[in-house]
Amino acid sequence: MSNFNIEYKGWKPEEQKLREAICTLGNGYIATRGAAEENKNDKFNYPGTYLAGGFNRAKTKVSDKTIENEDFVNFPNWLCLSFRPEDGEWLDLEKFKVLHYNQTLEMKVGVLTREFRVQDKKGRRTAIKSHRIVSMRDHHMVGLTWIFQPENWSGKVIFNSGLDGNVTNNNVERYKELENRHLEPLETEVINEHSIFLRVQTRQSKITVAQAARTKLYHEDRELNPLSNSNQSEGQVCQEFQINVKAGEEYTLEKIVAIYTSRDEAISEAGLEAKKDIRRVERFKQLLFRHTDAYIRLWHRGDLEFEDEGNNQDLLRLHIFHIMQTVSKNSIGRDVGVPARGLHGEAYRGHVFWDELYIFPFLNLRFPDITRSLLMYRYERLDEARHAAKEDGKKGAMFPWQSGSNGREESQEIHLNPNSGNWIPDNTHLQRHINSAIVYNIWNYYLATDDQQFMDFFGAEMILSIALFWESMVIHNETRDRFEIHHVVGPDEYHTNYPDSDEIGLNNNAYTNVMAAYVMQKAIKILDIIEKSRKKELLDELGLTDKNLALWREIGQKMYIPFLEGEIIEQFEGYGDLEEFAWDEYREKYEDIQRLDRVLESEDDTPNKYKASKQADVLMLFYLFSKNEIQSIFEKLGYEFTEQTIGKNIEYYRKRTTHGSTLSRVVFSWILIRYDKKRSWENFKTVLVSDFKDIQGGTTPEGIHLGAMAGSVDLVQRGFLGLEVCEDALWVNPPRLKSLKKIKLKIKYRRHWISILISDQKVKISFEEGHGNKVNIGVFDKILEFELGQEKEFSLPPDA
Ligand code: BGC
Repeated sequence: MSNFNIEYKGWKPEEQKLREAICTLGNGYIATRGAAEENKNDKFNYPGTYLAGGFNRAKTKVSDKTIENEDFVNFPNWLCLSFRPEDGEWLDLEKFKVLHYNQTLEMKVGVLTREFRVQDKKGRRTAIKSHRIVSMRDHHMVGLTWIFQPENWSGKVIFNSGLDGNVTNNNVERYKELENRHLEPLETEVINEHSIFLRVQTRQSKITVAQAARTKLYHEDRELNPLSNSNQSEGQVCQEFQINVKAGEEYTLEKIVAIYTSRDEAISEAGLEAKKDIRRVERFKQLLFRHTDAYIRLWHRGDLEFEDEGNNQDLLRLHIFHIMQTVSKNSIGRDVGVPARGLHGEAYRGHVFWDELYIFPFLNLRFPDITRSLLMYRYERLDEARHAAKEDGKKGAMFPWQSGSNGREESQEIHLNPNSGNWIPDNTHLQRHINSAIVYNIWNYYLATDDQQFMDFFGAEMILSIALFWESMVIHNETRDRFEIHHVVGPDEYHTNYPDSDEIGLNNNAYTNVMAAYVMQKAIKILDIIEKSRKKELLDELGLTDKNLALWREIGQKMYIPFLEGEIIEQFEGYGDLEEFAWDEYREKYEDIQRLDRVLESEDDTPNKYKASKQADVLMLFYLFSKNEIQSIFEKLGYEFTEQTIGKNIEYYRKRTTHGSTLSRVVFSWILIRYDKKRSWENFKTVLVSDFKDIQGGTTPEGIHLGAMAGSVDLVQRGFLGLEVCEDALWVNPPRLKSLKKIKLKIKYRRHWISILISDQKVKISFEEGHGNKVNIGVFDKILEFELGQEKEFSLPPDA
């Protein structure tokens, strides 16, 4: 790794699928894994191309049950490119002798480069340098070039360039028993001697995808006139080009592909548009120039300079790079959410979870228009959420735990434990806390942007509808005179029911209850913030009366929170009665117990019995809220809360968490910053390598973990820089960390671009670009007013 580059040396087939995920190129509209051009899906290669919002549903019979899943479709492979000498074999790194192999992801410009030299059985040595882009600027365009050099041979060479629509979903081994055919071929065509065309359609959702590819060859920048012929079969089309090559000379092949879909805006028909673009497109270098230019601008906004004792800068950039590739300007208005595993693989089927909570803090302060669009994805599914609430006998809107195309619940009904081969029920859809996460996200977007229009028209309606849902979820416990929530699952997915009960769900998950109280408090507040006429409109439309509002106030003050002895918040009611887990014994018995649920199920046991969590649950509260905020929430609820409460809870749950989700370490790093700097830093470093080193042993090849990636950046801005968006001001209050030398970033806050630098025990804040409005910035413990053009420097207080 060096200076914006991720470099892989040597051909290591067993590492290939991980490299593919890390080297995925995308533009927020479409993405293609960093697979080899010359290979199809096999043991070591998985060329996958995904479209934002590209879902398809399919039914399968498994374990005597017919289930339906909505999958993230693998669309036609546009990479297909290979060569062979006239009397030789097609390029295959598994069969050829690989003399040299280097693969570099150039993040600064969004280019994937492969450089390799191979020797075939007849001793012919060939060097190839390939460059690939998924254009950030011209989002329908993707392309690659090969610089081809026969080193010690001359003669006829044949290149094969194709489009392959006969692809299935095959990226996740655990899903292999499920229906994986999502495409049906519609049409292939040879447009002319250098262009081909393919059109497919998803089988159920009927999304049409059209690809038009132009392949040209050049020698010393002069276009060649190769002998060309073509091959078409159902779902596949390719062209072969034959030229004479001379040893030592360089030949350039350019393959440019235009991709359109029936989901696109401003089109007549996908196929027509793809053909039009391929007719108009210039040389690869022009495409590359525009693409690079777009990247320079993106980094100008998204970059974060970070100097510490390790070499963590590049990993942070890798994470920023993948966020910017998954959602971008090209995603805006496209009716897409942000998939937990990026556009990088098929795990979790492209679904949208609560991971937005971890991703939006990065976007809010750099690309707020993208957050707005992602929040609109939720708004567009408000009716479906209303329907779900009604079906469940509830009021308001109940958003799904896993969301896909139309906002119905997409959580799988049963899932495979790869350790035991058993299909087991998946009850994690009971994570109703997703609704509160949506409210939290709307509120924090609003704080960062002051986007009153959004709040008035869309945000408020979602918040009030969710508050109404919680109103119908709570049960008043007369004895306690407190409100309770039953039959839910908290963020810790290891506990979905009581060990002695067949009924699914748990009672009074502390995180869910506190978040419901938070929603109530926010809903009441929102009504004072939005336009009066809109308030009246919304109250009328949603049928809300003073009685509802009075009840919300009461719920906001009387939610029940279970406690164990000594200020320990009980994860859910009854958690205290569970058995302690034999941690030492299991750590000795198994190499890896991150996924303890799978380990135990294969022993015919269940984590439901034990005090063992997959990920932060109670501790999420200290992640989402500052000490003052959480203190105020608890005070309003009438519970005692001291500074020590946080420390004691961290210590209690730290020992009982397996970090089976990459999100967990993000939370631990953050909450430990002010209590145990060393452990906080260790967790941060683990988050940084989560995907790069695939610490869960095989999950990254199935897609990156975008929540953890974005979470790592938020740890730097919120944790190490102490940047907090609050109601009264944007606070900058960095904790003192020895290992940290410098952080420099640019953020967008309420229509200003603000540059913040921390180095040499000083903090510098510059208002570089923006509008006339003044804003409050809190530095350490004082609020100051800033306006455009101002720059101020502050020395870190000794015990900041
Ligand atoms: C985690 C969830 C997360 C999901 C998608 C699961 O393993 O438990 O919290 O939302 O992955 O990232």
